[in-house]
Amino acid sequence: MTPSPKRVFVLGATGTIGRATVQALLRRQYDVVCFIRPRAAGGGARTAGGAARAAGGAAPAPEERARVLAGATVRFGDVQDPESLARNGFMGERFDALVSCMASRTGSPQDAWAVDYQAHVNALAAARSTGVSHVVLLSAICVQKPLLAFQHAKLKFEKTLMESGVAYSIVRATAFFKSLSGQVERVKQGKPFLVFGDGTLTACKPISDGDLAEFLAGCLEDESRRNRVLPIGGPGDAVTPRQQGEYLFSLLGREPRFRHVPVALLDAIIGVLSTAGRVVPRLAEKAELARIGRYYATESMLVLDPETGRYDSAATPSTGTETLFDFYSGLARGERAPERGDHAVF
Ligand SMILES: NC(=O)c1ccc[n+]([C@@H]2O[C@H](COP(=O)([O-])OP(=O)(O)OC[C@H]3O[C@@H](n4cnc5c(N)ncnc54)[C@H](OP(=O)(O)O)[C@@H]3O)[C@@H](O)[C@H]2O)c1
Repeated sequence: MTPSPKRVFVLGATGTIGRATVQALLRRQYDVVCFIRPRAAGGGARTAGGAARAAGGAAPAPEERARVLAGATVRFGDVQDPESLARNGFMGERFDALVSCMASRTGSPQDAWAVDYQAHVNALAAARSTGVSHVVLLSAICVQKPLLAFQHAKLKFEKTLMESGVAYSIVRATAFFKSLSGQVERVKQGKPFLVFGDGTLTACKPISDGDLAEFLAGCLEDESRRNRVLPIGGPGDAVTPRQQGEYLFSLLGREPRFRHVPVALLDAIIGVLSTAGRVVPRLAEKAELARIGRYYATESMLVLDPETGRYDSAATPSTGTETLFDFYSGLARGERAPERGDHAVF
């Protein structure tokens, strides 16, 4: 008799990495159940095709959101409501694993605590009662130096998960391609590439959606990834923003042109918004978004050496085959579509 496939409950299946992870799980013959909300909320919510709703497109209907997850079972409900999770999500059935690529779409403190922390706490409690014995959580490498609300929210859930007694694989990824592709169009239009400082303040090991998805799905099978916090980047050496710009110009056969933006400009914006935010709460949220921008302008997405306080490319593990420069080449040839990232500073 053929053994029945393992059942995996997926959160965040409509996001960039969630969609790729569902495909990776289906390729490995898992029985995948995705729990999604009927419609994405406002803010920077994107359609499954990656087009920003803020850009004017209508919010996709529930059926359309489910269509991109073909091959998986899609259930609708509210992950922030424990009753809905049990009734509409797990439905009293048995599951083997929970995989979460879910994260706040806005990064605002309120949303981060509601989604990155509390919704995950709800899901973990519900999952345990259905037999789930392993949780794979997509996190971010930046939580190793937490300065922002969303990083504290992620860290707090990481701790809850590690102390829960359920086996865990916490995957702290470096930068995604979408977060590093915001300037491809402006360079194609002949504009300069914007960098903070001289463009070498930070570096990262970019990882493709597909390579990260494979790594996440592989956590269910690779014993060595159990009960581990796993920082992970893509193949090759770390790249700086300056190198990204230089590669784009050479790809397009243009002379490199950079515009240097002082970090002090972000500090000034943060100062003004923080002061105004004491009176207008909406501006306090904007101040936090500016702080997120400053963080990514000045902190590398690499493993941090606690002894020296330095970011260490060699200590940052690599996986996969696709490089950011492969992706840029695909964008330049019009074979790939850009998707603006939540962590894109420009
Ligand atoms: N961007 C980077 O460079 C980078 C680097 C390292 C790590 N990360 C981390 O990777 C993770 C995933 O990134 P991503 O780009 O794949 O995220 P994403 O595209 O923004 O997707 C977020 C997912 O979470 C879901 N979600 C958000 N709020 C929800 C709510 N209230 N209820 C139900 N579902 C909700 C979204 O559903 P809807 O479709 O319904 O909105 C979506 O499926 C994040 O934790 C991020 O911090 C990002």
